[in-house]
Amino acid sequence: MTSLQGKAAVVTAAGGGIGRAIALALVAAGADLAICDVNSAGLAEVASQVRQSGRACLAQVCRVGDPAQDQAFAQAALSTLGKVDILVNNAGVGGGGSVSETPFETWREVLATNLDAAFFFAHAFLPGMVARHWGRLIHIASLGGKRPFAHAAAYSASKHGLIGLMRSIALDYAAAGVTSNAICPAWTRTDMAERFAAYLVASEAITRDEAYARMAASLPQNRIVEPEEVASLAVMLAGEQAQGINGQAISVDEGAALS
Ligand SMILES: NC(=O)c1ccc[n+]([C@@H]2O[C@H](COP(=O)([O-])OP(=O)(O)OC[C@H]3O[C@@H](n4cnc5c(N)ncnc54)[C@H](O)[C@@H]3O)[C@@H](O)[C@H]2O)c1
Repeated sequence: MTSLQGKAAVVTAAGGGIGRAIALALVAAGADLAICDVNSAGLAEVASQVRQSGRACLAQVCRVGDPAQDQAFAQAALSTLGKVDILVNNAGVGGGGSVSETPFETWREVLATNLDAAFFFAHAFLPGMVARHWGRLIHIASLGGKRPFAHAAAYSASKHGLIGLMRSIALDYAAAGVTSNAICPAWTRTDMAERFAAYLVASEAITRDEAYARMAASLPQNRIVEPEEVASLAVMLAGEQAQGINGQAISVDEGAALS
């Protein structure tokens, strides 16, 4: 089993969904933690679980993608934990629509949250990783980062961009003991999937169960991915044994990217 004893990790948007599962899995492997989210109630619930397990946890309300808030969280993480060894760039928002259907403000919000912030946090934490000659960057991309989703131009572009950023970091920092990889999930059981199910219910006049059945049927194993499946891969990538895995966009999508 992967041990992250003595490592300090940052997970963005960890107050729910995939980020929550990753934060709890990193702590279970022994890491100390700094997390942020816009949702203070979700953040408090995760922080309280972490502290009950006896680990340190900074939990800060932060709208990821807002440079001033990103800056405040990065500084707080560094001063509270003393260092950051593992960065999980998890924050991501949707924003459906083809280019014609997407207002520029939506494009900017999606790109700021999904891509600008990943650059910002990498920029903030890479110098310390390089100085200690050890670091792990894990970016939560998407199946939509490997092939575009229809009517999701901003989201697909942001996730393709995130994979590009991940690869650039992997190349530039390989000799400095830092690895950079992406995880590309397909439909995963979180509020993001729930919002899409609700959209299908409203637009197609179907039930919630039918909406989930349709989403599951779009994947080769005919089921929705669980957040813990993504989290266990994140822990593996954060571990010592994953030093040689660098620059990879690893799918947790039941094989969906193949077709
Ligand atoms: N759920 C899926 O089906 C799925 C599939 C592929 C990729 N992803 C990616 O996984 C990541 C996590 O997705 P999820 O499904 O857990 O999301 P989610 O919508 O369920 O939200 C998870 C958390 O993110 C927080 N959040 C949203 N915007 C934020 C912001 N700007 N700053 C801080 N916190 C914010 C929410 O409050 C929530 O607690 C995203 O990058 C998403 O694109 C999700």
